Amino acid sequence: MRTEEPIRASERAIAFEGLRKTYVGPKGRRVEAVRGLTLTIRRGEFFGLLGPNGAGKTTTIGVIAGLVKPTGGRALVFGMDAVRDYRRVHKLVGVMPQEEALDSWFLNVREILIYNAGYFGIPPREARRRADALLRRFDLWDKRKSQVNELSGGMKRRLMLAKALIHDPEILILDEPTAGADVALRRQLWTLMRELNAQGKTVLLTTHYLEEAEELCGRVAILDRGELVAVGPPEELTKRVGGDVVELELDALPSALGSDKLKALAAKSGAALQDGRLVLPGTLEDPKVLEILSELARSGVKIRAIHARRSRLEDVFVELTKGLKS
Ligand SMILES: Nc1ncnc2c1ncn2[C@@H]1O[C@H](COP(=O)(O)OP(=O)(O)OP(=O)(O)O)[C@@H](O)[C@H]1O
Ligand SMILES: [Mg+2]
Repeated sequence: MRTEEPIRASERAIAFEGLRKTYVGPKGRRVEAVRGLTLTIRRGEFFGLLGPNGAGKTTTIGVIAGLVKPTGGRALVFGMDAVRDYRRVHKLVGVMPQEEALDSWFLNVREILIYNAGYFGIPPREARRRADALLRRFDLWDKRKSQVNELSGGMKRRLMLAKALIHDPEILILDEPTAGADVALRRQLWTLMRELNAQGKTVLLTTHYLEEAEELCGRVAILDRGELVAVGPPEELTKRVGGDVVELELDALPSALGSDKLKALAAKSGAALQDGRLVLPGTLEDPKVLEILSELARSGVKIRAIHARRSRLEDVFVELTKGLKS
């Protein structure tokens, strides 16, 4: 993996240093969720943490949120240890969790925000002022007296975001905020996240939507099975897979790649399977691509369509996390 320019200590918002987390489950079964992660996020950055299910994203951010105790290494927030300096770190970080965390049976929407402000030592008057400002900003004013179960999914998401912001944290951590959101809600959340970042907040976002990461994030890290496999600006990562790709729609993938010769050719060329397609780095003039095309023809594999296009973050992701190499 290529390393990036070092980030000066004064510019670091979050620094993971050899972070490890091993969960010990029932019957002593161990899960190494995070395996020695070293990664630094700059102040003011909009940073994306990507990776397939179970890659360790929620665990990693859980350490900063004070929800997960690392079994090795450490996480620093503005130079403070997320475990030892928990109290100070807690005030600097706002978390929008992956799972809905709004189960307040007796509080209405406005009271939820005010109540949460109490955790941060915000006096009641100020808490009410902040709650009202957030309700207006997030278009929840009309619902301020509603119970959570009366809100739509999109309203709940906005309330969760408001809740994460009640103490005006420097760092905002969003764990798949747009999962399952429809296009309109996603756009709305994107706008809000962008605004918050433009106001100077450091944003750490986890997402499965690669177009979301491309759209929003200045840099992204790709985690796979608890390890960092790539980090950099999305456009640099996509350049690393060559810029151009040829996508082949084949009949009967993956068994179409049955022959050893094809497998070897595909692996050598850095090919990856993606949504039932074979994606080859390169252009249609590329000898490696042509070799694979002719080998496919020779083996009688039916090619339904060929598309040549620019590579996207998705290609990097697929190649690094579930390409033919693994
Ligand atoms: N409390 C826990 N106890 C035991 N194992 C856990 C616990 N939390 C997470 N794990 C395991 O740790 C690994 C990483 O999980 P984690 O939730 O961090 O992944 P993720 O990248 O957030 O995945 P997703 O995209 O599905 O949200 C998984 O194998 C998961 O089963
Ligand atoms: Mg998760």
